[in-house]
Amino acid sequence: MFITFEGIDGSGKSTQIKLLENYLSELHIEYISVREPGGTEFSEQIRSILLESKHSINAVSELMLFESARSDLVEKIIRPSLEKNIIVIADRFFDSTVAYQGFGRQLDIENVNICNNFAVGNCIPDITFLLDLPLDLAKARINHLRLDRMESSSNDFFERVFEGFLEIAKNNPNRVKIIDATQSKEQIFENIKTILHQKFPKIFYNAG
Ligand SMILES: Nc1ncnc2c1ncn2[C@@H]1O[C@H](COP(=O)(O)OP(=O)(O)O)[C@@H](O)[C@H]1O
Ligand SMILES: [Mg+2]
Repeated sequence: MFITFEGIDGSGKSTQIKLLENYLSELHIEYISVREPGGTEFSEQIRSILLESKHSINAVSELMLFESARSDLVEKIIRPSLEKNIIVIADRFFDSTVAYQGFGRQLDIENVNICNNFAVGNCIPDITFLLDLPLDLAKARINHLRLDRMESSSNDFFERVFEGFLEIAKNNPNRVKIIDATQSKEQIFENIKTILHQKFPKIFYNAG
């Protein structure tokens, strides 16, 4: 099973992933967690270019770097794990590319989808939790000392990204579940658990 978490920065992805990891551990269900971009030596190098570069990167080049990092991660970690029936949890995956590079940077969405599909092949998430939190609330939750390259984009950019995520959810209603991220951490995780139990009863048959 391949589970991805999406949403703007500060929407609570890392927090919910931690809760899910603890839950799976308690149930003795095997999993691995990956973050994007990164997760392999090569992809982590690309991550530092993408997030720390002092130089501007044009939008197409940025898109290709994300896809390059993703493709390596899929081939070396995600696909082999799924083949061994290990649950894979990803902190961001290809929906983020549609939201940030497609809607945010305003690259042609169809081209972004083509690049995404080329990079991941048949490795499509079984379920995606979109943590839906208004921008101002997300900003209030994160106390940035230092913004990385992506995070220092304009407000308009983040508005488009936010709307982009909702559009993706609308277009993929079976896969992408919108979670109201204004709730408490515990309430949000209860929603996530309920959806997972419903969708994957065999995996969670021994869960209370
Ligand atoms: N439901 C919540 N209510 C209030 N604060 C939260 C909630 N979920 C996460 N936070 C806090 O908001 C901040 C950002 O959460 P985080 O999980 O790091 O988001 P992301 O990984 O999406 O950027 C953290 O300080 C976290 O403790
Ligand atoms: Mg995070």
